[in-house]
Amino acid sequence: MNDIKILAIESSCDETSAAVIRDGELLSNVISTQIDIHALYGGVVPEIASRSHLEAIPSVVDTALKTAGYTLEDMSAVAVTRGPGLVGALLIGVSYAKALAMAANKPIIGVDHMAGHISANFLLGAKPPFLCLVVSGGHTMIVRVNDYTDFTILGSTRDDAAGEAFDKVARVMGLAYPGGAKLDKLAAEGDEYSIDLPKAMIKEDNYDFSFSGMKSAVLNYLNKAKMKNEEVNKADLAASFRRSVVDILVTKLEKAAKEEGIGTIAVCGGVACNSLLRSELKKLADKNGYELYIPDATLCSDNAGMIASQAYHMYLKGDFSDLKLNAVPSLELGC
Ligand code: KG4
Ligand code: ZN
Repeated sequence: MNDIKILAIESSCDETSAAVIRDGELLSNVISTQIDIHALYGGVVPEIASRSHLEAIPSVVDTALKTAGYTLEDMSAVAVTRGPGLVGALLIGVSYAKALAMAANKPIIGVDHMAGHISANFLLGAKPPFLCLVVSGGHTMIVRVNDYTDFTILGSTRDDAAGEAFDKVARVMGLAYPGGAKLDKLAAEGDEYSIDLPKAMIKEDNYDFSFSGMKSAVLNYLNKAKMKNEEVNKADLAASFRRSVVDILVTKLEKAAKEEGIGTIAVCGGVACNSLLRSELKKLADKNGYELYIPDATLCSDNAGMIASQAYHMYLKGDFSDLKLNAVPSLELGC
């Protein structure tokens, strides 16, 4: 099958995005972020997110189609993120996509946001089977990508996601929302072995994670220093925290690759923008001779290009939804 053109929409959290893909090649990927609005409140305000999606979505979709050089009528299907995410935010995308599909008489494809994150790697040429480290604001998983639309979760976090831990630690250190990227920058100036933080579950014989204790360890460290009237070197703290999280992620991924006997590894999700994680994954791949895929930052954080990539493979399999498609806020990968 060729000349398949799909318009994809993503609105699960605080980015309104639309993309056009043709035969697996991304032609446009327009992203309108709401970060500045939510930063005023220290986190995503769901009601504001829904309203902002509603305002942005028509022009984001128009720009994605125009940039690709097509019209809605040219599309083979319309795809949209159906979950997981904020219900009100998801509903804006799902309703808009359904309206477009109905008006233009096109099939509709409901896409899992996490399958989308993983599918950013298909755009780089990653071919299943491979292992993917999924690290976003809401999820931390090691996934075996069996096929383009078939995923097995080997392990996941038992409490906070890695991105959530970065954001919470950044917040207690006084960095503005979303703190993950800011903490990463600050860490570059610090000594990553200066403060001893726990590396929870790193030695356990499984592929699971736990990050909530690390946030408590940072809080305890800050409180102790305050009680003793000691100055905290924030760059050292950021660097030590980043080192611990990245060591845990990379150690578990290496364990999975060895035990599964898979020599191709990939990463996805917002935390995949982390500079230390990216360089440690390269070292891991060099050391073991793994093939490695790391998407550009735009394809790691939320965007419709990754949704379009998964939708293309769902189209090839004939995996369509109908106009009963609904938002599923707590959708789990593979369900
Ligand atoms: O995948 P994503 O854009 O949204 C979700 O689906 O959750 O991930 C957002 C998460 C946030 O927690 C953000 O702080 C984190 O990714 N993040 C980072 C970096 N850039 C974004 N975490 C650590 N280092 C970064 N450079
Ligand atoms: Zn995401």
